[in-house]
Amino acid sequence: MKDITIEQISGIVQEASKLMHHSGFEIHDKGSRENLVTSSDIAVQHFLTGRLAALLPGCGFLCEEENLNDLQHSDVWIIDPIDGTANYARGNENCAISVALVRGGILTAGVVYSPWRNELYTAEKDTGAFLNGEPIRVSSRAFEDAILFTAMSTYRKEFAKACNDIIFDTYMQSNDVRRFGSAAVELCLMASGQAELYFEMRLQPWDYAAAGLVLQEAGGAVCTLDGEFPSLRKASLVVAGNNRSNAGRLLKIVHKYLEKVPY
Ligand code: IPD
Ligand code: CA
Ligand code: CA
Repeated sequence: MKDITIEQISGIVQEASKLMHHSGFEIHDKGSRENLVTSSDIAVQHFLTGRLAALLPGCGFLCEEENLNDLQHSDVWIIDPIDGTANYARGNENCAISVALVRGGILTAGVVYSPWRNELYTAEKDTGAFLNGEPIRVSSRAFEDAILFTAMSTYRKEFAKACNDIIFDTYMQSNDVRRFGSAAVELCLMASGQAELYFEMRLQPWDYAAAGLVLQEAGGAVCTLDGEFPSLRKASLVVAGNNRSNAGRLLKIVHKYLEKVPY
């Protein structure tokens, strides 16, 4: 990136995190009791859109809150103001701000900042991935030794049975399963070698754009059912692995239970 730097984006994201608190925020649901938004999500998103628009005039935004879906620009920021809102609302540290930049359709930069874990993950396309400024790499563990990050399709429980089958099959072939409740944190933890597999039935681009780039730049593989990187415009099934071979094996398990994405 010639006109802006990853440090500028990171600085704005870290400033935004000052709007996250351990208490004193309002919590509302967004149509279902699982799907929460807090006053902090809204405040962080407003701060980020204001500052990032000033950094890159003429840009568009795809953001989780307030239906901000403005993709008709060559530069688009994809933002989840707080990923892991259910954790945040409970004071659980597994939550993060996620900001990705797509330029001319190419995922170019990603920043994931988890303030209470004190973890700043950054990546620019083709230049590697970093945790708090230090280079990170995926683990080299085999599928049989892998830990799977996953979820049961929290907001669309009609898909939970298929998730259960896929998770069980994978579990029987690998080491263990984890559910931390923030896709962005989990994908970044894979990037730093703490887990090897990821499956989620339905994520949004703001959940995985930034962390997906971090994971790829750390040597991992991220894809949807067709083996390509998941859509940067709409909801997608997401599979990831610490390498292409392990992601491919997990994808084969997913294909046993799903011929196509069921939404
Ligand atoms: C959620 C988290 C969670 C994942 C959900 C996401 P949110 O994001 O990433 O880990 O399982 O699918 O929607 O709602 O906390 O921003
Ligand atoms: Ca999210
Ligand atoms: Ca969110």
